Amino acid sequence: MSAQDERAPRLLFFAGSIRKNSFNKRVAKLAASMANGLGFSSTFIDLADYPMPFYDGDLEAQSGQPENARKLKDLMCAHQGIMIVSPEYNASFAPLLKNTIDWVSRIRDEGEEPLAVYRDRVFALAAASPGGTAGLRGLMQFRQVLELGIGALVLPNQFLLPRAADAFDNDGNLKNHDQEQQLQAVVKKLEHAARVFAI
Ligand SMILES: Cc1cc2nc3c(=O)[nH]c(=O)nc-3n(C[C@H](O)[C@H](O)[C@H](O)COP(=O)(O)O)c2cc1C
Repeated sequence: MSAQDERAPRLLFFAGSIRKNSFNKRVAKLAASMANGLGFSSTFIDLADYPMPFYDGDLEAQSGQPENARKLKDLMCAHQGIMIVSPEYNASFAPLLKNTIDWVSRIRDEGEEPLAVYRDRVFALAAASPGGTAGLRGLMQFRQVLELGIGALVLPNQFLLPRAADAFDNDGNLKNHDQEQQLQAVVKKLEHAARVFAI
């Protein structure tokens, strides 16, 4: 293995929707498959496999953090670059993501700096919507939570998929070549940034 391969970052992809036919999940899946095609090590997960209750301080005091928050945190820590694809709900990002991020932020392993799971890796954002603005307003709020709230490094490059209901072909690829190229450019940037900046 060359010195460069040893530094090759692992990339994680997930969406803030657990809906079976979620457009955002399709983008996350496609981005993971593009990453694979580019020779990057990539993992796609469905948050449906990591159910968690709504954050509740009383519940946490009684039972600690949910096992799934621990599992997800460990998985995030095993990846240096993370792409999150969020639906937009009433001009904001998915509550599923806020809840997931909040629970994961509560887990601090011994000797670990606060919020290291967010601060030591690189994030890229994307959004898909059947509407024309593609979830841009949601991503602006999501970015604020990640950057200002928990100190994550979030790439300025992001991918937006408007009119998502008509955007995919039967194989899950994007019909529009320019959009495919745009998504691939964000995936490449994430890999590069994770290689350089992840700790
Ligand atoms: C409560 C609610 C609010 C929504 N608000 C927005 C919105 O502000 N902007 C938008 O583009 N789409 C909005 N939508 C439509 C979602 O983008 C659409 O349901 C999308 O398919 C959800 O993402 P998914 O396909 O990944 O599950 C809203 C949907 C719901 C249920």
